[in-house]
Amino acid sequence: MATDDASTGVRRRTNEIKRHGPEAFAAMRKAGRLVAEGLDMIAAHVRPGVLTSELDRLMFAFAMDNKAYPATLNYRGYRYSICTSINHVVCHGMPDDKPLRDGDIINIDYTLIVDGWHGDASRMYGVGSLNRKSERLCEITHESLMRGIAAVRPGGHFGDIGHAIQSYAEGERCSVVRDFCGHGLGQLFHDAPNILHYGARGEGAMMEPGMLFTIEPMINLGKPHVKILADGWTAVTRDRSLSAQFEHTVGVTDTGVEIFTLSPAGLDYPLGKQG
Ligand code: MF3
Ligand code: CO
Ligand code: CO
Repeated sequence: MATDDASTGVRRRTNEIKRHGPEAFAAMRKAGRLVAEGLDMIAAHVRPGVLTSELDRLMFAFAMDNKAYPATLNYRGYRYSICTSINHVVCHGMPDDKPLRDGDIINIDYTLIVDGWHGDASRMYGVGSLNRKSERLCEITHESLMRGIAAVRPGGHFGDIGHAIQSYAEGERCSVVRDFCGHGLGQLFHDAPNILHYGARGEGAMMEPGMLFTIEPMINLGKPHVKILADGWTAVTRDRSLSAQFEHTVGVTDTGVEIFTLSPAGLDYPLGKQG
């Protein structure tokens, strides 16, 4: 239960799932909106020839310009303001000086601390023109996220979210990555509970109003298995099949769900088609 150390004021993760009040929801709206605005801003810069290190620089500057701080910067030794996961990279790809190429799909994951509260979201972006296979995977992954969010309601169970995602994605002959999950967040970046993107209805803890967490399914065209490269961060599909991910930060309300990281510009799915 002790989330604050009385002597140091340090906040720690416990297994308890916090239930937050209206002030926290207001703070999460502000943090989530700024993350979404950053992800909107970067869309125009994702094109062939651009370096992911340049995208990282722009997102760091965006945080500074808006009195926010990138939560990933110096987090457990990570050194960047975003994760840039291209093609068969599942997550935690690191910005570098390699240019984006026509036909790449790239996930940009951005987490900002705003007034002490975390907003965390990611989207897929297309570089130049995509083949149908890449487009289809991105569409299925976004739909998986939205179906997971639609399963959020007070009195429901966390397993309902995983079930909604897994049954849809596997029905489309894709696979769900098991090695990474969504997470509670708020004044902590990664808090209880773990949000699994697979599972059965009725499993897991019950969702209650005031709970704050991310849903961030990673969906592969091939097998679900992942390996971590020698850099200690980059997760790739073992079979080198394409992987995609979308992420939103949400809160359980008295009647359903609130999404904090929706794009004010309508760019939640920045790849054409869909809505
Ligand atoms: N933003 C990622 C998430 O969705 C976490 C990235 S941690 C990092 O939880 F250290 F890799 F940046
Ligand atoms: Co997250
Ligand atoms: Co994230």
